[in-house]
Amino acid sequence: DKGRFRHFMLKEIFEQPQVVNDTLEGRLVNHKIIIETLGANANKVFADTKAIQIIACGTSYHAALVAKYWIEDYLQIPCLVEIASEYRYRQTAVLPNSLFVTISQSGETADTMAALKKAKEQGYLGTLTVCNSPASSMVRESDFTLLTRAGTEIGVASTKAFTAQLVSLMLLMVTIGKAQGLEESKEKSIAEALEHLPSEIQAALDQAEAIEDLSERFAEKHHTLFLGRGQQYPIAMEAALKLKEISYIHAEAYAAGELKHGPLALIDKEMPIVVVAPKDNLLEKLKSNIEEVRSRGGQLFVFADESANIQSSDGITVFPIKSQYTITAPMVYTIPMQLLSYYVAIIKGTDVDQPRNLAKSVTVE
Ligand code: M6R
Repeated sequence: DKGRFRHFMLKEIFEQPQVVNDTLEGRLVNHKIIIETLGANANKVFADTKAIQIIACGTSYHAALVAKYWIEDYLQIPCLVEIASEYRYRQTAVLPNSLFVTISQSGETADTMAALKKAKEQGYLGTLTVCNSPASSMVRESDFTLLTRAGTEIGVASTKAFTAQLVSLMLLMVTIGKAQGLEESKEKSIAEALEHLPSEIQAALDQAEAIEDLSERFAEKHHTLFLGRGQQYPIAMEAALKLKEISYIHAEAYAAGELKHGPLALIDKEMPIVVVAPKDNLLEKLKSNIEEVRSRGGQLFVFADESANIQSSDGITVFPIKSQYTITAPMVYTIPMQLLSYYVAIIKGTDVDQPRNLAKSVTVE
């Protein structure tokens, strides 16, 4: 039932504050993070984990890429991320004491499943799935399961499942950290950020109308570039996937530092460039990247923290986003990206919930 919403996708986008609450329920109590749903023996495996290999496809792969930034930053454990269709067919080398993690909304994606089966023959410490479907093949085949609690996702374009994956991966990261002596102060600061996440997501959703207005600037375009840096680079990738998937506009994401290495050649006044610019240690670098694009005539749309001090001017439209906590900023900035692709698709008149040529669950390769 779509309720008051025109499409399942829009309903699912608006469910995200609740999805975050559900995913945290019973797992974040008194500023402490405790995951109760993992199988027996998980803590021993986590204590021994010296490397993490994550495998996924599509949107779930983008969630994995964000988690890599967190895991290496907070735990200093090497984290490798690869798409399942590549991993399953090549000779792979396993680092000693590695934990193998799959991420999947459906738990039935053929390539991810095949990668999991391969991993079980490869001498990993254990296999864990971050999954939204409790009765799925991946849950059955994995040693450990962390359920995302996004509820049923009907729109082919994944939205709320992505947010639930990110929240779950953050809980997993802290849990592995705690098995290895992560400082309590770090756990507390992450817990605080997570506690505020539903209201920050709600504030971003409250800007839907303004984003709908903005979407008119994209509907006639044939291409769009998305830029981010650090943990927002995968968010730019996810934004590009969403736009391609439902509006059929060609979109690409770049780490903003890569501009000079090729994509700057694409910039002219016809090219819209969307930038995710939260306040973090890369903001000043990102501002120089914005200037590189502006001075070449690109049309910039910058989603920036209110305090970032980037002003709308010739060629730059700034869209203010409130996000107080750096670690959860990827989840907050995802919201306007989802809304933007949704409203562009509405103008284009595509079948938002069932985009052409795509299936919700990719059970064949
Ligand atoms: O069910 P999974 O998370 O394993 O699915 C992976 C991808 O097929 C999926 O995320 C796909 O990319 C979505 N349509 C993206 O919106």
